[in-house]
Amino acid sequence: MRRVHLFEFGDLRWFPKGLRDAETAYLAAAYRLFPLAERWAERISTVLDATESTEIIDLCSGSGGAMPQIIAELEARGYEVRARLTDLYPNPQSASDPHIIWIADPVDATRVPPELKGLRTMFSAFHHFRPDAAAAILKDAFDHRRAICIFESGPGTLLGILSMVGFDCS
Ligand SMILES: C[S@@+](CC[C@H](N)C(=O)[O-])C[C@H]1O[C@@H](n2cnc3c(N)ncnc32)[C@H](O)[C@@H]1O
Repeated sequence: MRRVHLFEFGDLRWFPKGLRDAETAYLAAAYRLFPLAERWAERISTVLDATESTEIIDLCSGSGGAMPQIIAELEARGYEVRARLTDLYPNPQSASDPHIIWIADPVDATRVPPELKGLRTMFSAFHHFRPDAAAAILKDAFDHRRAICIFESGPGTLLGILSMVGFDCS
C-alpha cells in the first residue's frame, strides 16, 4: 500500500516535553470517549492465559493511553494483569493505577531490553515508524519470543485527520 510518511512533532527530539506530554494526555483522555479499551482488551485476552498472572510491557506509552481501562476490562474478564509502561520519552508522572508502573529510563521500541519480559503491546504508535523501524519492532519481539499486540485508533476520515492537526502530521 502506498503511503506518505510525514512526521509527528512529538517524535522530534527537541520538541518541548510539556507539549509532548499534552499531546499524549489528550490521547489518553480521548480514549475514554470511545469503546476502544473494551475492544482492545477483548483482542488481548485471546493471547492471555486465564490461569496465570500476566505482565504487559507497553511500548510507546505516552501518558499511559487506555491502559488503566484495558486492565480493568481484563480483570473483569477474570485475568490477573499488571502493566509496565515504556517510552523513548518516558512520562512517569502520568501513572495513575496501582496495577501500572512506569519504567523511568527511555526504552526504544525497536530494542526492548530483554529483562522486560511479558506480552508487548503498542497503541496508536506503530504508524510513527518508517518501514525499517517497524520491521525492527516486529523482529525484536520475534527474536525474544515475545507476543506483540499492535493497535491503531485513527479513524482514517477527514474529520479524524483534522482533529489531529497541530500535533499529529502523519
Ligand atoms: C501517538 S503517541 C501514543 C501514546 C500512547 N500509546 C497512547 O495510545 O496514548 C506515540 C508515542 O510513541 C513514542 N515513541 C516514538 N518513537 C519511539 C521509539 N523509537 N521507541 C519508543 N517510543 C517511541 C512517543 O514518545 C509517543 O509517546
